[in-house]
Amino acid sequence: MESLIGLVNRIQRACTALGDHGDAEESGVGLPTLWEALPSVVVVGGQSSGKSSVLESIVGRDFLPRGSGIVTRRPLVLQLHKVDEGKVEYAEFLHLPRRRFTDFSLVRKEIEDETERLTGKTKQISTHPIHLSIYSPNVVNLTLIDLPGLTKVAVEGQPDSIVQDIETMVRSYVAKPNCIILAISPANQDIATSDAMKLAKEVDPTGERTFGVLTKLDLMDKGTNALDVLEGRSYRLQYPWVGVVNRSQADINKNVDMIVARRKEREYFATSPDYSHVASRMGSEYLAKLLSKHLESVIRSRIPSITSLINKTIDELEAEMNHLGRPIAVDAGAQLYTILEMCRAFDRVFKEHLDGGRPGGDR
Ligand code: GDP
Ligand code: NA
Ligand code: MG
Repeated sequence: MESLIGLVNRIQRACTALGDHGDAEESGVGLPTLWEALPSVVVVGGQSSGKSSVLESIVGRDFLPRGSGIVTRRPLVLQLHKVDEGKVEYAEFLHLPRRRFTDFSLVRKEIEDETERLTGKTKQISTHPIHLSIYSPNVVNLTLIDLPGLTKVAVEGQPDSIVQDIETMVRSYVAKPNCIILAISPANQDIATSDAMKLAKEVDPTGERTFGVLTKLDLMDKGTNALDVLEGRSYRLQYPWVGVVNRSQADINKNVDMIVARRKEREYFATSPDYSHVASRMGSEYLAKLLSKHLESVIRSRIPSITSLINKTIDELEAEMNHLGRPIAVDAGAQLYTILEMCRAFDRVFKEHLDGGRPGGDR
């Protein structure tokens, strides 16, 4: 059976494809509402807190544009699909269907080019997302959204409104009750000053949809450790905090590959006098599994409301089709028909999950 996360990924892509053509709003069909109802994981934090590094560690691949200053300038919707062992690992963009990227440095280049396509070679941002899927035996099923980092001041070449614009964009994602917040804070700064935790606390005061991640544990002052945070004494969340050690800038410059980096991270926790007792609950691989399991259980709990929305969408699409009639708008009609068929298929698969779905049986 297709995984629930994979299924939701497909619906998200369908919604976006339709939205791109502007038909959703014109026809009043409920796909934007459906998109809103689907849970996803959003990565938030200050600039250079380690967001891109965490995403790359979760994927186990080096593929995101990086550099100092503002690099992520459009939301990146990253859909990870686990495929069978031995299958070829590749990436695919929604805006370039049927082109398979196996060279991940070209993925980085395409993200840069596609960012510039809307914003030019500037430091400006756009709210229009880029959709990227990665198919790999080394990932867990997961959808993650990378956003520009929160900043405090506009730099040369940015409008004064940039600080507020970024915050507004990040808020538009994390304010949704279905959003799971992956809040990234660097361990070498006081948690009380964390942009991620400040925002998370505001939109999710009880911490029921926030996962706290502490990066840069290796960069803390000698003689200090982050156990107060990691063990929930400094800042209480409903889910346990996860500490990670990503590649340093020197590692990146030396092209230390991600598999080596994951191994070094495991060794770091296993041999650390401070963290060895919590080592099994630390690191990027643990984080990826934790998030995947959580996302799946959230989706499972939302199946009834998602299917009722899908059925509402089917009704609306059928009405719209009747209204359009074949000869008037062949293209629009054909597209709506495709979406209608997809919704019917989604409805069937969700029902299968409800009827016979073993929890986690698709992994
Ligand atoms: P972003 O702006 O939040 O996406 O942050 P990046 O992932 O680009 O990281 C900013 C810088 O911090 C890069 O030079 C990374 O190599 C470095 N970095 C991130 N996480 C860690 C970590 O856990 N340890 C060390 N030593 N450096 C890190
Ligand atoms: Na950065
Ligand atoms: Mg980044």
